[in-house]
Amino acid sequence: MAAYITEKIVSVHHWNDTLFSFTTTRDRALRYENGQFVMIGLEVDGRPLTRAYSIASANYEENLEFFSIKVADGPLTSRLQKVQPGDELLVSRKPTGTLVLHDLLPGKHLYLFSTGTGLAPFMSVIRDLDVYERFEKVILIHGVRTVSEVAYEHYITHELPQHEFLGDAVREKLIYYPTVTREPFRNQGRLTDLIESGKLFEDIGLPPLDPAVDRVMICGSAAMLKDSRELLDRRGFKMSRRIGEPGDYVIEHAFVEK
Ligand code: A2P
Repeated sequence: MAAYITEKIVSVHHWNDTLFSFTTTRDRALRYENGQFVMIGLEVDGRPLTRAYSIASANYEENLEFFSIKVADGPLTSRLQKVQPGDELLVSRKPTGTLVLHDLLPGKHLYLFSTGTGLAPFMSVIRDLDVYERFEKVILIHGVRTVSEVAYEHYITHELPQHEFLGDAVREKLIYYPTVTREPFRNQGRLTDLIESGKLFEDIGLPPLDPAVDRVMICGSAAMLKDSRELLDRRGFKMSRRIGEPGDYVIEHAFVEK
């Protein structure tokens, strides 16, 4: 297990039957950039059983936070969903990933496109003070199937605006746009459709996507990534292809099915 640090679960929050979040202790040697992921998991039959998880906590926070689905017959999540405070969690020592702010060219508006647990890295990004220094507006879009999957809504709309250091910037710059596809909700439809139709921009009061001023980070299912990329490519956006080579948008390459 030398590749892993053993942390302890601090808290667990179940959003509904399919989603939960949890926090763990954090080794002081673990450094990461907001938006990066680590391998986390449990020891099963004497071996580490791990998967890539985006870190949802900001990199200055004391604890690590993760946001996960629950799959009844999933090798890891069937077990992980049962963790309790005090239980052990394996965390890899080297966070990595391509969903990072420094690989975006300068711009005015930062769009964060997420579906499902793809919200996780953006929970870290929207708690990064740098993001508000670099952009005039930060637009977080979270697409989910049902209302109960609109996780973190209360935190984003009620707690973050009161945050000691981030509150002012969040109130001035963060636009939060959850959207639900399979139940009635104030915003409805796939984020890709809302962008194509222009409804998103009418609702948030910003002009349609423009590669001259807009930057995008994308995290979601393979299908959502594909459609989002096509939509951006058609509008002339250029993707950052590797770490250290900035572009108009970034995706998490590690999660893309190859
Ligand atoms: P839909 O209900 O129309 O499938 P999932 O749980 O399958 O990852 O889906 C999470 C959310 O992402 C759902 O609202 C789903 O809409 C939406 N979604 C699924 N595929 C795409 C896609 N290709 N582009 C944009 N949104 C998508």
